[in-house]
Amino acid sequence: MSAVWEGRSLLLRRPAFLFGQNGSILVEEITRKTSGPQDTLGRHLQDLRISVTDRCNFRCLYCMPLDEYTWIRKAEILTFEEIVRLARIFVDLGVRKIRLTGGEPLVRQDLPILVRQLAGLQGLSELSLTTNGAYLADLAPDLKAAGLKRVNVSIDSLDAQKFKKITKRGDLAKVLAGVFTANRIGLRPIKINAVIEKGLNDDEILSLADFGRIHLFSMRFIEYMDVGNANSWRSDKIVTKAEILSIIRRQYPLREMGRSGGTAPAVDFEYVDGRGDVGVISSVTEPFCFGCTRARLTADGRLVTCLFSEKGFDLKSPLRQGATDQQLSSMIQGIWEKRVDRYSEERLEALTANQYDASHRRKIEMISLGG
Ligand code: GTP
Ligand code: 5AD
Ligand code: SF4
Ligand code: SF4
Repeated sequence: MSAVWEGRSLLLRRPAFLFGQNGSILVEEITRKTSGPQDTLGRHLQDLRISVTDRCNFRCLYCMPLDEYTWIRKAEILTFEEIVRLARIFVDLGVRKIRLTGGEPLVRQDLPILVRQLAGLQGLSELSLTTNGAYLADLAPDLKAAGLKRVNVSIDSLDAQKFKKITKRGDLAKVLAGVFTANRIGLRPIKINAVIEKGLNDDEILSLADFGRIHLFSMRFIEYMDVGNANSWRSDKIVTKAEILSIIRRQYPLREMGRSGGTAPAVDFEYVDGRGDVGVISSVTEPFCFGCTRARLTADGRLVTCLFSEKGFDLKSPLRQGATDQQLSSMIQGIWEKRVDRYSEERLEALTANQYDASHRRKIEMISLGG
């Protein structure tokens, strides 16, 4: 097997400053300014990704290629009032950044109303959104007016036919119109996500990088992950961070800047010639669980502590049965304090030992988690 992770030591992939004398992780150094709950690996709860719907107008091959899926029943989906109440409890517990996701968040009716309510939360420092961009041209002005700061948009190909092949239902021209509208009205910095799959769009790495350089968007290349169960992931479909960087560097010298805040999924690089920056998200070959401060709230009100979890913790039932804020806060705190997740690190260990089976657990689908 010509596995790209062969010979890799997980320990060597972590920045040296993250280790204590016995190899324990000094995440405290990075997150010590927060007062929120800490999990069993010392990681503070700092970020919340809220999925506002599991519906999506695309069917990306790497996420949800199935036409039919068991969608969450409407009555089970949290109302805006319920989302805002939970969000406020999370913020009071120490969350500083909220990202709205889906499915596709812009298919949720009246999303700007929710954005306005979340933007008003005392103590929140960042409110952003990850979207496929199809409805962005229409909605960007209202989202901006409601208090949204910035957007991340998926564009995996700049070839309209290939874009349609990857997303099954997407129209590249509409997505580009959305990105340019968002940029024009100042929903910046704009980050463009591209999941790279071997033999599908790896021939577009340089043209996507050029797209970012021309418009000064932060292009982020993402290693194909085995999220969910529906995407037929195989390890040989991955294009690694090392391969992606070597393609870009052949054309454009890069200077590494590291992870934003020390814990972000992307490792950022700036172009030495000053044409902006580019990032790589390498959950498979260089996992970043050591600094994972992210919780996820599903559209039906489950708290999920890892992107690769098999189950979530039901917050909606107690919420609807009359639990107080204090009771909900204690539940969330208790769940976080027991958290042991480090799935991507375990995957790399198993891949390195040639013992990884992506189907060994029934994961929650990405479309219900929003990435
Ligand atoms: P920024 O704050 O703008 O850097 O956003 P982000 O990169 O955290 O969020 P985005 O929704 O744009 O996600 C980009 C990619 O990172 C997607 O493929 C996500 O699934 C992936 N990602 C985000 N958080 C995690 C995480 O905690 N673990 C793993 N394995 N992947 C993550
Ligand atoms: N691997 C990596 N990234 C993925 N995304 C969806 N599925 C996968 C996958 N299998 C990304 C999308 C989007 C973000 C929410 O998650 O590209 O940008
Ligand atoms: Fe594609 Fe995002 Fe929809 Fe998944 S949720 S199918 S990644 S557009
Ligand atoms: Fe966090 Fe799980 Fe991603 Fe690791 S794999 S960074 S624990 S969400």
